[in-house]
Amino acid sequence: MFKNTFQSGFLSILYSLGTKPLQIWDKEVYIAATYARSILSYVAAMLYVEVHLLVSFHLWLVSHMCSPDIFLKSWVDGDKQNFFAVVNGQVRRLQDEDIQSNVLEIIGSNVQSTYITCPADPNATLGIKLSFLVMIVKNLKKYFSFEIQILDDKNVRRRFRASNFQSVTRVKPFICTMPISLEDGWNNIQLNLTDLTRRAYGTNYVETLRVQVHANCRLRRIYFSDRLYSEEELPPELKLYLPMQKHNT
Ligand SMILES: *[C@@H]1O[C@H](CO)[C@@H](O)[C@H](O)[C@H]1NC(C)=O
Ligand SMILES: *[C@@H]1O[C@H](CO)[C@@H](O)[C@H](O)[C@H]1NC(C)=O
Repeated sequence: MFKNTFQSGFLSILYSLGTKPLQIWDKEVYIAATYARSILSYVAAMLYVEVHLLVSFHLWLVSHMCSPDIFLKSWVDGDKQNFFAVVNGQVRRLQDEDIQSNVLEIIGSNVQSTYITCPADPNATLGIKLSFLVMIVKNLKKYFSFEIQILDDKNVRRRFRASNFQSVTRVKPFICTMPISLEDGWNNIQLNLTDLTRRAYGTNYVETLRVQVHANCRLRRIYFSDRLYSEEELPPELKLYLPMQKHNT
């Protein structure tokens, strides 16, 4: 995607204030998989209410040797989980109260199946050679994870998966899972991909192929850079608390 782009300084792949923040991203939310079931739950819930009124239905069920309450309640309860998953799984833009500015929120009861991924085309790759990844992300005090897929100089694709619900680093041939702990509120996560690749696999980082961010978090910006920049050196639009600072002046 960026393979033939001259890369130096910064390269942003997500900005919550952009006109289309997810233009180059694809999103997967739990909602799609359970849509049909949620309709079923709705119908079941309606039936459950009706059942107390419908004596004839009651009699029909009794004649079929099953109490209507038990029969329908278990059905509704069974589907309730899916119903809530539908309500919970979403990616939306909203105003964050701390920075008084629009951010992207990824929420889902199922961390694994609610995420955004870049590039949108599953066969495409980013081809970003810059070796520092910076994510400006808010801690929502829920499960959260993200994944970076890179290519190393042995021409092997490796994935780094960071999550806040894991306590030890595990290195397997193609995936390295590692813990990440977030401070309260907004965080500036900086990853030295050269360092990660060298430590986990003893190889050299070549480029990033894919970035995937899972529930639950709020995002302001995701960018790559050629080195680490101090807050003063950063262009204004890459700073964390820009809108707040604007409001204060
Ligand atoms: C991705 O590649 C596979 C195999 O090369 C192909 O079958 C599939 O249609 C491609 N998908 C997209 C979205 O281009
Ligand atoms: C990033 O990691 C590489 C390899 O370990 C190291 O040489 C470099 O100094 C690191 N850069 C920063 C800014 O920490």
